[in-house]
Amino acid sequence: MIVYHLSTECYPVAKVGGLADVVGALPKYQNKIKDVDAKVVMPWYNKPFVSEHEFDIVFDGFIHQGPNMLQVQVLKEKTDVLGFELYLVKIPGLLDRDNPYGYQDESFQFLAFQHGVLHWLSAMEIRPDVLHCHDYHTGLVPFMIEYCPEFSVLKGVKTIGTIHNGEYQGMMNWEMANYLPSFDSYKWGLMDWNGYINPLASMIKCSTAFTTVSEGYLEELFVSFRGLESLVRDEFGKAYGIINGIDTEVWNPETDPMLDFNFNSKNAVELKKKNKEKLCKEYGLKPELPLFAFIGRFATEKGADFLPDVVWRSIKQSYGALNIMILGSGNSYIENKLKEYDYTYTNFALDLGYKEHLSHKIYASADFLLMPSRVEPCGLNQMYSMRYGTVPIVRYTGGLRDTVEDISTGGAGLNFTFPGVDDIIHTMNRAMGIYNQKGVMENLIHANMNFDFAWEKSAEKYIALYRN
Ligand code: ADP
Ligand code: GLC
Repeated sequence: MIVYHLSTECYPVAKVGGLADVVGALPKYQNKIKDVDAKVVMPWYNKPFVSEHEFDIVFDGFIHQGPNMLQVQVLKEKTDVLGFELYLVKIPGLLDRDNPYGYQDESFQFLAFQHGVLHWLSAMEIRPDVLHCHDYHTGLVPFMIEYCPEFSVLKGVKTIGTIHNGEYQGMMNWEMANYLPSFDSYKWGLMDWNGYINPLASMIKCSTAFTTVSEGYLEELFVSFRGLESLVRDEFGKAYGIINGIDTEVWNPETDPMLDFNFNSKNAVELKKKNKEKLCKEYGLKPELPLFAFIGRFATEKGADFLPDVVWRSIKQSYGALNIMILGSGNSYIENKLKEYDYTYTNFALDLGYKEHLSHKIYASADFLLMPSRVEPCGLNQMYSMRYGTVPIVRYTGGLRDTVEDISTGGAGLNFTFPGVDDIIHTMNRAMGIYNQKGVMENLIHANMNFDFAWEKSAEKYIALYRN
């Protein structure tokens, strides 16, 4: 079975968030299953991985985007070093950028990606068994292969659409239709939602089946999906929730080269402490006090707007009996408030930016990881922290609900229901109580490290769905 994953991110080539982790790991684990050949196609980026590896040009052609003629090149990484065939689509001016997102003309960029991929596959008469589209950036592919004559070779190929984040749908004005490959205009309604071209809605309508990255999140979409609630209810018959796994080869505390002290579940208590001491020293924190950490985008969906108040209130209310460390970036108001507190409170450390190495060190060193998300389709941070013996404190939502159970009901994490500063601080107080009971804390470290979030089970579920 030949599967092409289409995505704008893939670790370690280009990563903004969890989408990259999933697309960098799922195909690798799928390829361990008999008779499966999973590949990844993504845009070309100006990134170290690309300059440090060798590629063959496997296709060179042209597409028309409105009045513009664009050159399309497809490059294949020579050695399949990632455990799957990796293809990069390069289009000068649109798919040759430094980063996946943040450009004014993103709609053109993602349309060019989808058009370029389908043009290449059609021209070379490559008919995969499954095209697996990730998020709205590739959401028009299921429509395009059915209703654009240019891709008639691909008509009938099965498509899976995975919703990693329904908060972003890629809506465009209908004028943008001029920049699509020409399509059967009677079918325009299959791209429309409320008067806009909505790629995510189109993916739900036109894919053979669609998935969300946890079961809990699928349930939530029925009632909260930025306007698509009724659509997901109508299309429920082909919806599946499949929880993400984690790449246990990359995220292994015993071998992780990014850690100062590697550890396993036998020596975790002692060696996590050493990691923590080193990190605390570097950031001027107090290693004898519990360390609460947050890693992530400063966005309201992550509950990052609570963080400034959580910092000052928890430090004041505990009379300075805890440390907080935050790694991330995003909303400038949140960044500025946190910078101010970084200056004011010695128990607080802030590192602004995206730092893969530091994130690994924090998962290994912290005692507790905070995830106060309003929306969390799956969430990988909680699974990484658990694998590294750090107790997750999560809001009971989406994938967090499916992966973290509260200690009061036999789990090894801490949950709260209402997204707000009071509930976060109340739960941090519960955590402080646990931290002070040495035996309980040690048991929790071990219990968390023993959870199995490996990709194998979920990779099998996707394959079963493809076969279906
Ligand atoms: P999302 O994709 O919504 O941001 P996930 O929990 O699925 O959330 O995945 C986030 C991924 O990005 C994790 O691998 C996490 O460690 C990483 N990450 C987030 N922010 C940073 C940062 N500032 N520096 C390093 N890694 C980060
Ligand atoms: C999205 C979601 C996150 C999920 C990730 C990978 O970025 O916000 O919850 O873990 O995709 O599926």
